[in-house]
Amino acid sequence: MCGIVGYVGPRAATEVVVGGLQRLEYRGYDSAGIAIYDPEQGLQLRRSVGKLSNLVQRLGQQPAIGHVGMGHTRWATHGNVTEENAHPHRDASGRVVVIQNGIVENYLELKSRLLEMGYHFQSQTDTEVIAHLVGHYYREEQALEPALRRALAELRGGNAVVAFCVDEPERLIVARLGNAGGVVIGTAPGETFVASDVPAILDYTREMVFLEDRELAVITRTGVTISTLSGAPVTRTPVNVPWDPVAAAKGDYKHFMQKEIHEQPRALMDILRGRIDQEAGQVQLEDLTLDDRALRRVERIYVTACGTAWHAGLMAKFMIESLARVRVEVDYASEFRYRGPILGDDALLLAITQSGETVDTLAAMEEARAQGVPSVAIVNAIGSQAARLADGGPIYLHAGPEIGVASTKAFTSMLAAAYLFALRLGQARGTLKPAQIREHLQAMVELPGKAATVIEQSLPICAELAERYHRASDALFLGRQANYPIALEGALKLKEISYIHAEGYPAGEMKHGPIALIDEDLPVVCIAPRDAIYEKMISNIEQVRARHGQVIAIGTTGDTLLATKADHVIEVPATLPLLQPILTVIPLQIFAYDMALRRGCDVDQPRNLAKSVTVE
Ligand code: F6R
Repeated sequence: MCGIVGYVGPRAATEVVVGGLQRLEYRGYDSAGIAIYDPEQGLQLRRSVGKLSNLVQRLGQQPAIGHVGMGHTRWATHGNVTEENAHPHRDASGRVVVIQNGIVENYLELKSRLLEMGYHFQSQTDTEVIAHLVGHYYREEQALEPALRRALAELRGGNAVVAFCVDEPERLIVARLGNAGGVVIGTAPGETFVASDVPAILDYTREMVFLEDRELAVITRTGVTISTLSGAPVTRTPVNVPWDPVAAAKGDYKHFMQKEIHEQPRALMDILRGRIDQEAGQVQLEDLTLDDRALRRVERIYVTACGTAWHAGLMAKFMIESLARVRVEVDYASEFRYRGPILGDDALLLAITQSGETVDTLAAMEEARAQGVPSVAIVNAIGSQAARLADGGPIYLHAGPEIGVASTKAFTSMLAAAYLFALRLGQARGTLKPAQIREHLQAMVELPGKAATVIEQSLPICAELAERYHRASDALFLGRQANYPIALEGALKLKEISYIHAEGYPAGEMKHGPIALIDEDLPVVCIAPRDAIYEKMISNIEQVRARHGQVIAIGTTGDTLLATKADHVIEVPATLPLLQPILTVIPLQIFAYDMALRRGCDVDQPRNLAKSVTVE
């Protein structure tokens, strides 16, 4: 939450910083601001409420010139959405500026101390406290680095902070405390970049270093010097991030979400690359450090995640229990960390996260580490904190950057990654013979083509459905077994981008309450592929119809019976039962997208949401 960008080098800093913020706007869009420095113009602060486009407009009237600067896109935590509360924030002298991603938990205490010392505050934010503290210590230290170190020593909470002082105009200093915000530093000859996330600086470099918790980096044109907050030097070799800048651009698509929906066949192919040997019936996960022996020792897996990733976690339970016969519990990461879980010697934690930055998921991983339990992370963002915390290794999705706030391609890739992990586990534990693995892999290899078919078939039907149902105030999504998490995911997609109240339910539970909602105005989306539970699902559809609900069914290609039971049917090709959700969810993504579009909603940046949830 909140995006930060900084630059030192020969280019026009405003261009680099604003360009970077445009790539990070998914992290928050309540307000945006930049601070650019030039020896002649001095420190130029420009801030605007609302989307980044407002700031860009402002910069058209009042340009900011210079070769060093920082910018911020805000997801409000402390203080309303106002220009005064937009970052960057200045100290009392106006010579120090600061941006922050995260929360200063003890800001009230620090603020009252600063007020007593005679400081005046311009905003209600916790970040201004950091600015004043740094300015205060600067007066004593006459140097930014020790001043920032002293200020950081007083903060509680998790933050990523960038600071600049006009008296040291050739450098930015960035620091990271806790897990509330990733910091990536990009280097190129004669220039250095800093950002909360890789896509912001991909246009300029792929050589990147990631700052760890309690580290500080001094950024100049010639590179970066990293040390711990206590001052010990840190040597870190840059990693080469293999993402293509084009992948982080919208291209010909109207929205990132639309683009990412269409990228799913490609992503489902990429996730298999170099990982499967169909002939031998084997799965190899290149970064997994747990060998067969370690995998055989695992008797219990705790899956933990948030939001859409948690839905993928529910699916992972089905997959792992069925293919590898290991007991699985699934927890919301935000609950897991506070319930005092007793994990045990034979446990493994499986974290699932697109961004690799979700603060609760990271905290759950830390809880596992504290109990001596290894963790594995199914993660998309290369080099992210989750990938680094996973001592059992990351399983990268290789889905490319996901920018749309509503997760789509990362979700289907998470399902495929969980399936691969379940196969790998089954292979190590002997619950699956090579011939069986071969069969599963064959089904996985066929998925990209089938996903492409689903997209093609769903587009015209979903456009019609949106035309018909976009004025609905509620919607119900029903599924059973493996398609129950998909009902949850369909409801989440619809509510988060179209603001229609939607609920996902196990279809068998409908009679225990939600059935009361059904009337002739309620669209009821029923996920009913031809699987072991199909007939039960048909009975549930009959129950909906008997109450005049409008049934939109997702069913297997050629299912003539379903066509007689539902008002609308979207067909998906058949595959193995636990892979079927990868296909059944796609029409639901397209349906949500079309509904939101028809309602005039901002699909990529739905209100109140941000993509990387780095605060509790
Ligand atoms: C919904 C959505 C969120 C995320 C959740 C976890 O479309 O995207 O629910 O799934 O915030 O994020 P990650 O996967 O980055 O940990």
